[in-house]
Amino acid sequence: MVPASLSLKPALDAIGKAVDQRFDRLLAVPDDNRARLYEAMRHAVIGGGKRMRPLLVVAACDLFHVDRERALRVALAIECIHVYSLIHDDLPCMDDDDMRRGKPTVHIAFDEATAVLAGDCLHDIAFEILADPATHEDPFARLELITELAIQSGPAGMAGGQMMDLVAGDVTYDIAGITRLQQLKTGALIQWCLEAGAIMGRASDAQRKSLRAYARDLGLAFQIADDLLDVEGESAKTGKAVQKDAAAGKATFVSLLGVERARTQAHALIDQAIGHLAGFGPEADLLRAIARFAVERDR
Ligand code: IPE
Ligand code: IPE
Ligand code: MG
Ligand code: MG
Ligand code: MG
Repeated sequence: MVPASLSLKPALDAIGKAVDQRFDRLLAVPDDNRARLYEAMRHAVIGGGKRMRPLLVVAACDLFHVDRERALRVALAIECIHVYSLIHDDLPCMDDDDMRRGKPTVHIAFDEATAVLAGDCLHDIAFEILADPATHEDPFARLELITELAIQSGPAGMAGGQMMDLVAGDVTYDIAGITRLQQLKTGALIQWCLEAGAIMGRASDAQRKSLRAYARDLGLAFQIADDLLDVEGESAKTGKAVQKDAAAGKATFVSLLGVERARTQAHALIDQAIGHLAGFGPEADLLRAIARFAVERDR
């Protein structure tokens, strides 16, 4: 069995630092009337979050010895999309949350209009990063990264899942429905992290298939863990409000199966995810450790 969270702490700390440094450079505040927009983006992306998606990208790129600086560009892109999704998810018209990553949400620290724009701009910046030749010299590889990210973040991915989540009060989801909702809402961006590693590293078809299967199980397990933390977690650790899903009538694995069965399901999915990495050797240990962390975390 892979030792989980312990071995992962230095890797998470290192990626957090690397991501913060690059966002600091990328989002230098201009000396004009757009300053507030940059301040809002910086508030959201610098100094917080587990950085699990950036770490997934780097771990997947490492399988294929992709240049670290290039891998970090790709990591930054997915973190931009993720944080944009969080800013919008927290808006009063969606989950109406006041705290994120232990800080006031962007619409609280700034205002709603600024939060909408900050989210929009992070979305745009993600694609700008990927389109830059510094990310990959091959324009076809860049196009593939961009196309896949557009799919995984749009109506067939994250945004579609958010819609399914928003209508959850009015429709009844069975296990298949919840699985699809979570696969889109959360799984799609996680899926992209592994796909991006495969694109950057020119993985074989068989390797891509394994990484996709790993990502699918990991994505589902990750959202089940998020839903469990909403029920059992402490907001001092998660950095966001807890016990909100049931009150909001959100359909989750926990609402459908109960805490114990949801937890069992998350662990089974993680065993399955790790099983899909059987074709890789110790070079995939970081991916194995991330999978354990995804369900054993308390934040
Ligand atoms: C929260 O994601 C939103 C979900 C998709 C469950 P994370 O739990 O990765 O949030 P951060 O990035 O650590 O803040
Ligand atoms: C949000 O899911 C997933 C996104 C696409 C942002 P949640 O609404 O459960 O995420 P938290 O709990 O607010 O982080
Ligand atoms: Mg939500
Ligand atoms: Mg939310
Ligand atoms: Mg949640």
